[in-house]
Amino acid sequence: MSDNSRMDAFRACVGGFAFGGDYNPEQWDRSVWDEDVALMRRAGVNLVTLGVFAWASLEPEPGRFTFDWMDEVIDLLHANGVSVDLATPTAAPPVWLTDGHPEVHPVMEDGETFGFGNRLHFDPTSPRYREHAARITTALAERYAHHPAVVMWHISNEYGPVPYTPQSAIAFRAWLRRRYGTLAALNDAWYTRFWSQVYTSWDQVNPPEIPRSWSNPTRRLDYKRFVSDALLECFVMERDIVRAHRDDVPILTNFMRFYRHADYWRWAAEEDAAALDIYPDPGHADSHVSAALNFDLMRSLRGEPWLLMEQAASGVSQWRVNNVKRPGQLRLGSYQAIAHGADSVLFFQWRAGRGGHERFHSAMLPHSGTASRTWREVEALGRELPAIAEAVGTVSHAEIAVLFDWNAWWGLTETHGLPRNDFDYPAVVTDHYRPLLQAHHAVDMVNFASDLSGYRVVVVPNAYLVDDRFVEELTRFVHGGGTLVCSFFSGVVDADNQVRQPAYPGAFRELVGCYVDEYWPAREGETFDVAFADGTTTRADFWQDSIHPETATVLASYTSGLLAGRPAVLDNAVGAGRVRYVGTRLAPEALRDLLVAAVADAGVTPLVAGAPPHVEVARRHSPDGPHAYLFLLNHSETETARVAVPADGLDLLAGAPTGGTVALGPLGVAVVRTG
Ligand code: GAL
Repeated sequence: MSDNSRMDAFRACVGGFAFGGDYNPEQWDRSVWDEDVALMRRAGVNLVTLGVFAWASLEPEPGRFTFDWMDEVIDLLHANGVSVDLATPTAAPPVWLTDGHPEVHPVMEDGETFGFGNRLHFDPTSPRYREHAARITTALAERYAHHPAVVMWHISNEYGPVPYTPQSAIAFRAWLRRRYGTLAALNDAWYTRFWSQVYTSWDQVNPPEIPRSWSNPTRRLDYKRFVSDALLECFVMERDIVRAHRDDVPILTNFMRFYRHADYWRWAAEEDAAALDIYPDPGHADSHVSAALNFDLMRSLRGEPWLLMEQAASGVSQWRVNNVKRPGQLRLGSYQAIAHGADSVLFFQWRAGRGGHERFHSAMLPHSGTASRTWREVEALGRELPAIAEAVGTVSHAEIAVLFDWNAWWGLTETHGLPRNDFDYPAVVTDHYRPLLQAHHAVDMVNFASDLSGYRVVVVPNAYLVDDRFVEELTRFVHGGGTLVCSFFSGVVDADNQVRQPAYPGAFRELVGCYVDEYWPAREGETFDVAFADGTTTRADFWQDSIHPETATVLASYTSGLLAGRPAVLDNAVGAGRVRYVGTRLAPEALRDLLVAAVADAGVTPLVAGAPPHVEVARRHSPDGPHAYLFLLNHSETETARVAVPADGLDLLAGAPTGGTVALGPLGVAVVRTG
C-alpha cells in the first residue's frame, strides 16, 4: 500500500483505524483491570498506550525493575484483543534519580530550577539523565520487544523542556562547532563585532541568558535550533535501543499543537509516523481551524497518514475554565483528524484518574463510568469507526501549500529587535490558512526544504527569515508557472538572521517586483483605508511596507494615512508565474478574497462547490485503488447544511447512496466514498 512497511504492519495488526488511548493500570488495583478490558472490548478499543509516566512503578530503585504488573497487564490486553503502543517512561524521572543526581533537573529560562513534582523535569543534555533513560529503555526493549501485543513504541512523551545549565552550555558549544567549524565563522554568523561580542575561545560561548538582557539575535536563533536537536537526540537514542531489539514496528513520539521548541520537520524524518496530541478548546468556536492546520501539518511532515495520539473525550483540566465538548463534538473532532490523514483516534486517557493534577481531565471512561454521556459517545464512536475501515492508510493531494517553517517562526518571534516584536507566527499562518479551509480547498504545509514542484499556489505568510535554498526553490516554482502569495515583512534576513542587502524585501525583490525603503509598524489602534483597482475598499492595520514598485503593478493603494496614494497590494508577473504581494495586514475578508481569487486564477478548484464556510471538507484517496473518501464536517452547533457531492457517492456512515446530496445536522459528519 505504501513504502512505509512498519506502518503497514501496524495497520494490519490493528485492522482498521486504531481506537483507544493512554492506559494507566499502575494507578489502579488489579481488580479494576478486568473491568477495563471488558469495557475496552465493548467500546471497540484496539490499541492502548501503556506506561507513559510509569518509571517509578517500573524501576522503584536504581536498577531494580518491577515488571510483574506490566507482564500481567500486557498479557491481559493481548488475551482481549487489545494491542499495545508501549511507551518508554522517560518523560517523568523518579525522585531517586533527581535527588541522587540534582544535575538532571533543568534550569529554566528565568534561572529557576525546575524541581520535582511535575513531569518533564529533566535536562535533555544531562549525561546522567540519558544514561538512566537508556537503561530503562533497554530493560523494556529486552523484555517486551517480541511480545505479540506490542505493535508500536512510544518514546517518552511530548518532548521538552529547554535547559539553561552548565551541561547544556557544553552541548551547545559542541553543536556550534559542528555547525560552524571555526570560531571565526561563528563570529561572522553572529555578527559579534556589534557590542563587542567577539569570541576568542569556544569556552566563552554560552546559552543566551534571555531574561537578564537583550542578547545577540543569532545566538538566540541558534539556541532554538540546538535545543530542538538536543531533545531529538534523546528520542533517537531511545529509538535506536528499541530498534536494535525490534526492527519491524513503528517507533515514534507524540507532538504538540504549535510547539515552538522542536522543529517537527526534522523530528518527523526520524520517526516512522508523525503523531499529534490535540486539545481544541470547545469554548472557542474557531478552535477547529487551528486543529485542521495542525492536522494538515502532521500529514505534510512525512507526506503520509499520521496518528492522532491524544485528544480529550470532553473537557481538559489545565485551563482557567475547561468547557465540555457538546454532544457530537467528540465524534466531529475525531472524524476531522481522520479527514486530514489520521489513521487513529486515541485519547488521553482511558479511565479518569482519582487523584493527581489531571483528576478532572475527561476520559473515555469518566468518573461516573458507563452511566455517562461521554461514555455513550465514546462507545458509539468505537462501534461506528469500522464502517470506514477501508479508508485507513489512504492519502491526500493538495495543489496549495502554505509555508510553516520553524526557522521562519524563530526568526520572527524568538530573536527580538524587529520593527515590532509582537508577531504571533502560528496566528499569522492560521490567518492565511483559514480562508482556504473555509473555501473548501485542500492545503499542504511546507517548509524551507520542501519540493514545491507539485503545487500550483504557495502561500508565504510573514516569512521574515528565509534560507537561500527556499528562495531558490520558490523562484524556480514561480518562474515555472506557480502562483506565490506573500505577505509583508518577508524575505528580509538570511539563515544567520542578517539583513539581506541592498534593499528590502531582500530575497524576494525580483519575485515581488518592488523594493521597500522602510517598514512602518502601525501606531496603537491605527488603521488604514485601502482601495483596490476594481473599486472595492477595505481596511488594514498593524503594519505598512513603504513600497516602491519596480516591475509589479498596483492592485490596491492606501487612501488614508501618511502613505495615502502609495501601493498596499501588488501583482507581479514573473516568468510563467505570478506573485501577489500584500504589504500590510488586510482586514480578514479582504485577505480571504485575495487568497480565494489567487487560487481560482491559478486554476485550483475547491473540493466541493457551494458549501457554507462552517462545513469543512477534506478528501483522502487510495494511493493505488479507485476510491476517494470525501469527509464533510459541519462545525455549526445550530445550522443544518446540504452539500452537493458526486452522484455516485456512498455515505459510509449512513450505509446508503447519497443521490448527489448530503444533509448534515448541527455538528454532523458524513464520509462519502466516490469512484
Ligand atoms: C498532554 C499529555 C498528557 C496529558 C494531556 C492533558 O499534553 O501528553 O499526558 O497531560 O496533555 O490534556
